[in-house]
Amino acid sequence: MENISPALLNWFYENQRVLPFRTDPSPYHVWLSEIMLQQTRVSAALPYYERFLAALPDIPALAACEEEKLNKLWEGLGYYSRVRNLQKAARIVCEQYGGELPADYDAIRALPGIGDYTAGAICSISFGIPVPAVDGNVLRVFSRLYNDPGVITDPAVKKAFTVRVMEHQPPAAPGDYNQALMELGALVCVPNGAPLCEQCPLARLCQARAAGTALSLPQKAAPKARKLEDLTVALVESPAGFLIQQRPEKGLLAGLWQPLLWEGAAMTAEQLPAALTALGIHGITEAKPIPKAKHIFSHIEWRMTGYTVTVEAQPAPDGWIWATREQLQTEYTLPGAFKAYKKRLGLV
Ligand code: ADE
Repeated sequence: MENISPALLNWFYENQRVLPFRTDPSPYHVWLSEIMLQQTRVSAALPYYERFLAALPDIPALAACEEEKLNKLWEGLGYYSRVRNLQKAARIVCEQYGGELPADYDAIRALPGIGDYTAGAICSISFGIPVPAVDGNVLRVFSRLYNDPGVITDPAVKKAFTVRVMEHQPPAAPGDYNQALMELGALVCVPNGAPLCEQCPLARLCQARAAGTALSLPQKAAPKARKLEDLTVALVESPAGFLIQQRPEKGLLAGLWQPLLWEGAAMTAEQLPAALTALGIHGITEAKPIPKAKHIFSHIEWRMTGYTVTVEAQPAPDGWIWATREQLQTEYTLPGAFKAYKKRLGLV
């Protein structure tokens, strides 16, 4: 196949979106943007990106940020292990590299939360190092360009595609080339529906277009079934606020805050008072069911049965606190898994 980079780069220079991490592609900016964009669309991530950098303008500021504040800056993006790894990595960068990412692929790849893709994006975009940065967009473009039915979640297939990506990479513009492929995948060679081939600078070379197979590519493995878990959530309110508790330091939603809940049980209204009493909560003046809610994580689905409970003034049970609505807005982060309940509390 002829080299795609001249046509691709021309298209990119004419059509790329103006994005803050392109206007000022410092290693920190590119790193942060790529981590945010792993699970979030560009348009949704941008306000978070701007707010995060306004609060934490450099790597030392990120390294020093207090945990509650850091979670607040990530609230709404989800997958909070991303921001914990960002900070872990920032602390290592401060200890080992004087607070700036080094222009060294292996050193960057070794940091927590940074895989092949993110290391490749930072190194090619910020440092001009000729390495690949192959994300889902790029795999889709190449599966179509070569009309290759390989299953892109298969590591051997990804490796073979990466070899092809590098065959076309111009040594003088690895960052623009990598971003052009991502941008083409995001804007033209789109997922979930027909690609916009009439706008594509590579249409003339595209083997899936010639074969009429673009819509069925890339091939993906069947998704794994999610584990279903039942929970009961109680929004317990006293004159001092709402009862919340910090989740354990490890595991799902580590370190974030949650309302009172029981995992593994869809509790009836009749069972609820005894369960509250068992925790030392007394003086219940009202308990009402609220609509069921669900939340889908990558590997688990929570099915939540909910209640609002009003109680008399009393100390919080050990390990719990009463948080005012104001504190829930500015201080403590309840993850999006509780979105239905946060709405009820006027928090989203
Ligand atoms: N998606 C993830 N990173 C991107 C980037 N740098 N440009 C366009 N889309 C992206």
